[in-house]
Amino acid sequence: MRVIITEKNIGDWAACYVAEKILAAKPTAEKPYVLGLPTGSTPLGMYKRLIQFYKDGILDFTNIVSFNMDEYVGLEKTHPQSYHHFMHENFFNHINMKPENINILDGMVTDYKAECQRFEDKMKAIGGVDLFLGGIGPDGHIAFNEPGSSLSSRTRDKELTADTIIANSRFFDGDVNKVPKLSLTVGVGTILDAKEVLIMVNGHHKARALRQAVEEGINHMWTISALQMHEKGIIVSDEEATVELKVGTYRYFKDIEGANLDSEKLIKELYKKARK
Ligand code: PGA
Repeated sequence: MRVIITEKNIGDWAACYVAEKILAAKPTAEKPYVLGLPTGSTPLGMYKRLIQFYKDGILDFTNIVSFNMDEYVGLEKTHPQSYHHFMHENFFNHINMKPENINILDGMVTDYKAECQRFEDKMKAIGGVDLFLGGIGPDGHIAFNEPGSSLSSRTRDKELTADTIIANSRFFDGDVNKVPKLSLTVGVGTILDAKEVLIMVNGHHKARALRQAVEEGINHMWTISALQMHEKGIIVSDEEATVELKVGTYRYFKDIEGANLDSEKLIKELYKKARK
């Protein structure tokens, strides 16, 4: 596992990584590049930078296919807190993704099982996800795979824990009763099937989760820790989230990733390369 600890914006670092991967893949209609995408406050910086790359002519999203991680059950696509709405508002409306290439679970279906199977089948048919991007919750959840979720789980319906309902109530007028209690979510196994996984971690409140993910064993109570089993797992963390790491762990990753931490430099290099 790579652990990138950067003083700069973690979203910029992630956006540069995504851009480099897309440019290297040279996607076509026959062989698109497939992204797994998250919602939440964490990825906003990454989406903003990717939009900038598109506007500056660095990136083209014509041959990108996306699969979103999760969706609340019971919210219409137009509901301001639905993940459909979030993704269009914060990303898709500003780039040139084809609507038919956007895949988001439908939280309004009655047959959850069929909807989740459809999602898994579509992912498989296209050849799998190239790069799954994500954030984590303070309890270490990845997508809505709450503590105790099977580490080989697939896309399914999942109840939200009280912790997550409280954390997400900030988007529902601070009222826990307005937060849906059920979600449809990709499984930990679904995420681990991607060719690469990049997880962004930010803030003091995620420091325990980061420690569990990096220094402790693989454990279903911290589903992010399953990333240790992935061949190409990357964690991009801000400084605040590292406060529970051992000094030695922190220094080790700072040392081996030393040349790769400055996202401003990475952005400059990207523009230079694209304009050659
Ligand atoms: P956040 O949520 O990005 O808003 O912190 C992340 C998550 O709960 O997965």
